[in-house]
Amino acid sequence: MLPSMAAAILIVIFNLGVKTPYLLSSNIQNYPSTKQFSLLIGILTRADNYDRRHFLRLIYGIQSSPLAEVDVKFVFCNLTKQEQRVLIALEILRFNDIIILNCSENMNNGKTYTYFSSLPRILSRTYNYVMKADDDVFLRLLPLTSSLQPLPRSDCYYGFVIPCQSMNPFVSYMSGMGYILSWDLVEWIANSDIPRNNTYGPEDKLVGRWLDLGQKARNRFSNKPAMYDYPGKNGRCSHELIPDTIAVHRVKRWDQWFAVINYFNVTKELRPSKLYNV
Ligand SMILES: *[C@@H]1O[C@H](CO)[C@@H](O)[C@H](O)[C@H]1NC(C)=O
Ligand SMILES: *[C@@H]1O[C@H](CO)[C@@H](O)[C@H](O)[C@H]1NC(C)=O
Ligand SMILES: *[C@@H]1O[C@H](CO)[C@@H](O)[C@H](O)[C@H]1NC(C)=O
Ligand SMILES: *[C@@H]1O[C@H](CO)[C@@H](O)[C@H](O)[C@H]1NC(C)=O
Repeated sequence: MLPSMAAAILIVIFNLGVKTPYLLSSNIQNYPSTKQFSLLIGILTRADNYDRRHFLRLIYGIQSSPLAEVDVKFVFCNLTKQEQRVLIALEILRFNDIIILNCSENMNNGKTYTYFSSLPRILSRTYNYVMKADDDVFLRLLPLTSSLQPLPRSDCYYGFVIPCQSMNPFVSYMSGMGYILSWDLVEWIANSDIPRNNTYGPEDKLVGRWLDLGQKARNRFSNKPAMYDYPGKNGRCSHELIPDTIAVHRVKRWDQWFAVINYFNVTKELRPSKLYNV
């Protein structure tokens, strides 16, 4: 074996072994800066949603986590217009955060299947966890990664379980606001006939169904009340904003985004400067 290979394997083994109990401490300041795991957040959106992408790049560009390596990517189907080919090429050159799947946006079904099933083939690396998120959700990366840190790295399905009032993560599936699968389940979706034969229907519900049919995801976690719909939205899945929030969903209008940004003090870190007066 090449010495460099041996060293690489040793580093891997070392990294797998560093789950010490103090990492579970609620005091985030005590976390070491070594990244414990990796997470890909794929935000499913449409090519034409330029403004939303611009805004979400700001929202996620100013967040990070000492616990995890987090990559945020925007995911959509085939481009359909000439202007997209130019504007999105520029975005990719500048940000390199776009995944264009082989699907068509006006197809009602299968984008989620295409997303998960394509990843092992198109990514040049693996992640411990893969998230599918909406483009109208506000995710707080530090609480999100803190909640994932102690969880199993395999056979794991995490999110906000539907129906709204269910407190049983096995009843019955995770809401499309944002849910996470461990990498082994992403590979299973790519390879198994069960998802491949069941791609038509409500997509997020189907994911739960695939996992049930395949007797997969024995580790399921529903994070209530930390994940929820924006106050006043459809009642049952929503509640007031709370400090220990991981995800707020159905943030559609600007006034709602501003309320969320204010509540979580997102812009409070701005330092005084002679260059601006905000
Ligand atoms: C893309 O999807 C089309 C239609 O489903 C299919 O015919 C084609 O082979 C796919 N191309 C690739 C590169 O997967
Ligand atoms: C997406 O675009 C590629 C390249 O233009 C094409 O080969 C493929 O068939 C398209 N897929 C669908 C589902 O329309
Ligand atoms: C999936 O569909 C194929 C073709 O129709 C069939 O041969 C296969 O048995 C099915 N697999 C499952 C798990 O349903
Ligand atoms: C935002 O800042 C205020 C004032 O410092 C503080 O009282 C409040 O707890 C903070 N909110 C959150 C969600 O951290």
